[in-house]
Amino acid sequence: MKLLVITVTTVAALLSMGQAAAADEGKATFDKVCAVCHAKGLMGAPKLGDKSMWEPLIKKGGAALTASVIAGKGVMAPRAGVASLSDADIKAAVDYMINQVK
Ligand code: HEC
Repeated sequence: MKLLVITVTTVAALLSMGQAAAADEGKATFDKVCAVCHAKGLMGAPKLGDKSMWEPLIKKGGAALTASVIAGKGVMAPRAGVASLSDADIKAAVDYMINQVK
């Protein structure tokens, strides 16, 4: 029983480490690729941290927003113009942006 508790705790710790790593990656991708437009809200891009712009977007859900970035929307090119970004990179960046208005 004790072993089970230890195992469960270890798995939980590893999982939360994984989440922290994804959050760091999301910020790194944002800073490198997305900030150009989204830090200041260039060309109508939803500005980082702007609650009134993000609230209606968040209602669509993270998956739909990630899909928008992959497909491209308006001035924003597919994958924000960086073909080497994986779906997971984009999802992490979108999650990072969503977390800034929570
Ligand atoms: C060239 C400037 C530019 C870059 C770079 C850019 N975006 Fe955008 N983004 C925009 C603009 C402009 C819109 C608004 C598009 C519209 O509604 O027509 C937008 C919209 C969005 C939306 C809302 C999509 C929706 O369904 O309404 C998300 C989420 C988003 N961007 C995430 C990202 C992420 C993540 C990155 C980096 C990987 C990124 N953007 C890079 C300009 C950019």
